[in-house]
Amino acid sequence: MAWISIAVLILIAFVYLLPQLLSSNKKKKLPPGPRGLPIIGHFHLLGKNPHQDLYRIAKKHGPIMHMRLGYVPAIVVSSPDAAELFLKTYDHVFCSRPHHESSKYVGYEQKNITFGKYGPYWRNIRKHCTLELLSNLKINQFQAMRRTEVELLVSSLIGASKIGETVDVSTKIASLSADITCLMVFGKKYEDTDLDGKGFKAVVKEAVQVAAIPNLGDYFPYLGVLDLQGLTGKMKALAKVFDGFLEKIIEDHVQYKEDYKQTKDFVDTMMAIMESGDASFEFDRSHVKAVLLDIFITGMDTSAAAVEWVLSELIKHPEVMKKLQKELDAVIGLDRMVEESDLDNLEYLNMVIKETFRLHPVAPLLLPHKSMEDCVVDGYHLPKASRIIVNTWAIGRDPNVWAEAEKFQPERFLGSDIDLRGRNYQLIPFGSGRRGCPGLQLGMVVVRLLVAQLVHCFDWELPNGMLPSDLDMAEYFGLVTTRAENLMAIPTYRLHK
Ligand code: HEM
Repeated sequence: MAWISIAVLILIAFVYLLPQLLSSNKKKKLPPGPRGLPIIGHFHLLGKNPHQDLYRIAKKHGPIMHMRLGYVPAIVVSSPDAAELFLKTYDHVFCSRPHHESSKYVGYEQKNITFGKYGPYWRNIRKHCTLELLSNLKINQFQAMRRTEVELLVSSLIGASKIGETVDVSTKIASLSADITCLMVFGKKYEDTDLDGKGFKAVVKEAVQVAAIPNLGDYFPYLGVLDLQGLTGKMKALAKVFDGFLEKIIEDHVQYKEDYKQTKDFVDTMMAIMESGDASFEFDRSHVKAVLLDIFITGMDTSAAAVEWVLSELIKHPEVMKKLQKELDAVIGLDRMVEESDLDNLEYLNMVIKETFRLHPVAPLLLPHKSMEDCVVDGYHLPKASRIIVNTWAIGRDPNVWAEAEKFQPERFLGSDIDLRGRNYQLIPFGSGRRGCPGLQLGMVVVRLLVAQLVHCFDWELPNGMLPSDLDMAEYFGLVTTRAENLMAIPTYRLHK
């Protein structure tokens, strides 16, 4: 197998790379970058945590850096000013997505929003989702549901508190986030067993992880069909599991409709667009499934990872935890739980969340963008079809903007008007511009509500006498980057009732 791979790679190098290297691009000034190897380019410089590797390399070569990943030119963006150029000034050039082998299967040929190519279909379907699911009005309609689900989590933690039990906080948060997202998107909770018996979170986690591993098919023409890494095979298997699950959901809804259901959920809305036949864009059953799965995965995983990181930083910094509890006690008191209507009054909570996003953006390299035409940025020639990688993890550590960048200090946001909406390029955990996250409002409600509730209701201690400073903050890189090890902690209930 190995010699076949090598032979194919060499052939591709001759057919594609040599003419390219000898051609016009040579005369044009590309951004600086490290020296690459023949054929593979710079792949060898990237390890398990590519955002950290790119951060180190960019320190030497600058905030707009040129690299080559196999056959694909890549531009790595690592400072706020550079991010503004790519996500605002020239956003119209860089707002497409590159070919993504995994999305061919799990995204039904990139019919989802996340990996959809820039164009009328993507614009229309993104607009529909924003209106039908992610608008403030819709978010508020699900407030009571979120409250019920959060109460369920709190009562299970009270149970653990009574017996001094160590809780797998990461798993608890992921379950809650999955339930909330299921209820919003599919209209009901599904059991773990509904997804091939493997478990919901496990299947979604596997898909997000496999999708994040660089697939040679994305970087070397024609290698996709050979599937030398076996990733496409894995994705096809996962896609089959998801497809069965989505078919079941759609059938449930068709059945239900015949029973004269009153209230419409998101699945009904997507089905209605399909059935009306008057959408100005092609929209069949595969489009419905692609969008449902997309929103389900993006909604569930991101918010859970963010809450996990905030709680980890709070446990690691007890003085910040105490200060936040003081704020919660002052605004809410100890006789009732936090309500969503309290969230806007919790200023320190917002600072804690911003500081966590600065150090732990859950999508440290955003999602890859692609240039739709040749473009000159900051005097550099950027070829058409380059992959644009915005390293928001590096931007959050840029010493030109952040003093003592490695330290967790929520107070740095005191009196600052930096927000998370993508207007301040030093802090863009939700991206910015045309491809910026459409779920920002919803994500922020969920993250703020969960963190506030968990910190207000409970004190948290690490198990086995572990000190806060011992808590390991290692990352596991994926499209969503989580803690490497699950967060384990012991809750102690602190409210009066
Ligand atoms: C804490 C929560 C969240 C974070 C940190 C987050 C972050 C991001 C980031 C960084 C991107 C890529 C931006 C880019 O490529 O420039 C993105 C895209 C996206 N997010 Fe979120 N997200 C969150 C929650 C959500 C939620 C709750 C939903 C929906 C239920 C959602 C739906 C999407 C979609 C559909 C895209 C693709 C947009 C496009 O390509 O046009 N996200 N998100």
